[in-house]
Amino acid sequence: TTVEWEAESYDMGGHDTYMHKEIHEQVDAVDRVLRGRIDDRFSTVRLGGLNLDAREARGVRRVKILGCGSAYHTGLIGAQLIEELARIPADAEPASEFRYRNPVVDPDTLYIAVSQSGETYDTLAAVQELKRKGARVLGVVNVVGSAIARETDGGVYVHAGPEVCVVSTKCFTNTAVAFALLALHLGRIRDLSVADGKRIIAGLRKLPEQIAEVLSGEEEIKKLAAEYANAKSMMFVGRVRGYPVAREASLKLKEVSYVHAEAYPASELKHGPLALIEPEVPTVAVLPDDDLLEKNRATLEEIKARSGRILAVAHREQEKADHTIVVPRNEVELDPILMGIPLQLLAYHTALALGRDIDKPRNLAKSVTVE
Ligand code: G6P
Repeated sequence: TTVEWEAESYDMGGHDTYMHKEIHEQVDAVDRVLRGRIDDRFSTVRLGGLNLDAREARGVRRVKILGCGSAYHTGLIGAQLIEELARIPADAEPASEFRYRNPVVDPDTLYIAVSQSGETYDTLAAVQELKRKGARVLGVVNVVGSAIARETDGGVYVHAGPEVCVVSTKCFTNTAVAFALLALHLGRIRDLSVADGKRIIAGLRKLPEQIAEVLSGEEEIKKLAAEYANAKSMMFVGRVRGYPVAREASLKLKEVSYVHAEAYPASELKHGPLALIEPEVPTVAVLPDDDLLEKNRATLEEIKARSGRILAVAHREQEKADHTIVVPRNEVELDPILMGIPLQLLAYHTALALGRDIDKPRNLAKSVTVE
């Protein structure tokens, strides 16, 4: 099967770039990360390689997720999912920061290293430091048998298939789904109800079809990208579930189009970055239809009052925004997974409009295996 993967993955399959191909592969990739793992009988998921029994899972008092770049951002989504579904305090930190600050390693904390390649040196070094101090470390990794997969005590494979483009798309989405599976698994061992387990499972099953629906809006997103491509800088904002999406979308735009971008929690805008808002600095606002929507709308008003242009990603048309990309509704906990996808297309088409080298952006490498 390794050979089949390779033959298939290095063929562009009619796409002009790997990035475009990989964005469109997400429908199948998400299907693959779910396959064989859902256990309807107990409204949970089975994760064969986790190596964490139910008693150990109940003993976890904190979760700390470590990764770099896009992997770190999936960790931010993962931490929210674990807090929401399993009610375990969780956070994510760049692996490089963690390893350099002589971290206090706690025996009741479950550490999770997240990496597409499984070879990122900073993440690997964090794993080794943790192992040396006796911690339990799991991996959420794409490349089977990679260094991080080997050095961790167990984990969840992401099954995105080979990702060639330097900027991560399908692997980002699949990693977020893998975190949803892990959060559901931990939740159902702890206090998540059968009804909530069923609700999340139904939501997960809807994802491939909904991703296809988002991708079918590509032409419209391409037009929006042309409209915003000449921005001096772009501001990305979101609250709670929308915030990691804003972080990742901002990184993706920078990486592939070289357009300067910032990401802030929407609530932080008034504490400084609002000074940047003007017509040449548009805002992309990630607005899930959750209990923070009204607060988010108030933020849009603040931006409008400063003549800022707004592109919203939301579940329904936002009249305060200049444009809205409407994304299908799912369970609120899963919103970050779907809402990131149109913004991958926005980054892609911005880069295309600006004539960038999409699969190999300047100054970047697919995986950084040195310090
Ligand atoms: C590099 C890449 C990023 C990637 C990061 C982590 O910096 O340019 O796109 O997110 O490494 O890579 P990993 O393989 O650990 O997920």
